[in-house]
Amino acid sequence: MIGLGAFGRAHLQAYVRAGARIAAVADRDGGLARRTAEEFGVPASFANGVDLLDAVPVDGVSVVTSAASHVELAREATLRGRKVLLEKPIATTAAELALLPAAARSRILPGHVLRFEPLHQRLRAEITSGRIGPVLGVAAGRSRTRDHQRLYADVHPARMTGIHDIDLIAWLTGSPIRRVVASVEGDPASLVQAHLFSASGVGSSIRTSWLLPDDAAVEDELEVYGQEGVARLRVNSTGAVLYGQSRERPWASAPPADAPGLDAEIVHFLRWLRDDVEPLVSFAEAAHAVAVADAIVASGAAGGTPIDVLEVPS
Ligand SMILES: NC(=O)c1ccc[n+]([C@@H]2O[C@H](COP(=O)([O-])OP(=O)(O)OC[C@H]3O[C@@H](n4cnc5c(N)ncnc54)[C@H](O)[C@@H]3O)[C@@H](O)[C@H]2O)c1
Repeated sequence: MIGLGAFGRAHLQAYVRAGARIAAVADRDGGLARRTAEEFGVPASFANGVDLLDAVPVDGVSVVTSAASHVELAREATLRGRKVLLEKPIATTAAELALLPAAARSRILPGHVLRFEPLHQRLRAEITSGRIGPVLGVAAGRSRTRDHQRLYADVHPARMTGIHDIDLIAWLTGSPIRRVVASVEGDPASLVQAHLFSASGVGSSIRTSWLLPDDAAVEDELEVYGQEGVARLRVNSTGAVLYGQSRERPWASAPPADAPGLDAEIVHFLRWLRDDVEPLVSFAEAAHAVAVADAIVASGAAGGTPIDVLEVPS
């Protein structure tokens, strides 16, 4: 484990629940690394992730540091033959991904946690089975607390939070996004609204805000509009509910969870380490999401000018 902040701790707890043996932890805050190792009974701790990679022959590594170090740490780990569960956004910009050679890319599982979350998987299954007919568009809203402005000051909300919905839209529509028009408001940026045009001709929208009071719970909504119906997924403090045509009889529901899908993601990563499965999220998909986020940031900075999404070379 490299990166032991709020979400690194969640990874660690998920590894424990999955029965994995955690060989070593690292955080640039060496004291935090030491304390975390003691708390979880991990035999080694480091103040530098590369030192961990040099010293301990691990099978795989979770990189849960701040976004600015994702590419560098993934590169160092894959150069040493390790497989990496790399948190989103996998890079701060698509250009940064050029630092990762092809061999490195095939050793990275992007941590797009919602792809592993059962209700999101059910939503996609309903769509692909034709339950709502051909998809006409998707609208996604994701509201987070104001403290995100301080906690993630180095990452644009489109890249930090919007990336989930960018990826979900490409996954649910089965089509890459070619062009975006966006507005970004606030100083620092704290409200992002964007229209995304898919290669298939579908139009979708995302709204990401970091403006809720600090004690508020998440408020996420995802609506998929089909020719023959609408599917809606709501996630808030009371849990998650997936609705089809009837509000009284939802398709599925789940109790509140801190990190929906994280346990499934960690189990999938552990299976991938044993070569039991193909990665559920590809590097190319995560790279595409970063490129779309780049286009949103650029369109917002240019006052809503349409921006084409760059293709990331594979
Ligand atoms: N998928 C999700 O739903 C989800 C949710 C929260 C966070 N995340 C992702 O997880 C990552 C971490 O988020 P967080 O909320 O835990 O942030 P955080 O700031 O709480 O923790 C980051 C930790 O990484 C350490 N760190 C930073 N750079 C480092 C480096 N180069 N080497 C070693 N340690 C380093 C910091 O000291 C800190 O302890 C981010 O990329 C974020 O996008 C994903």
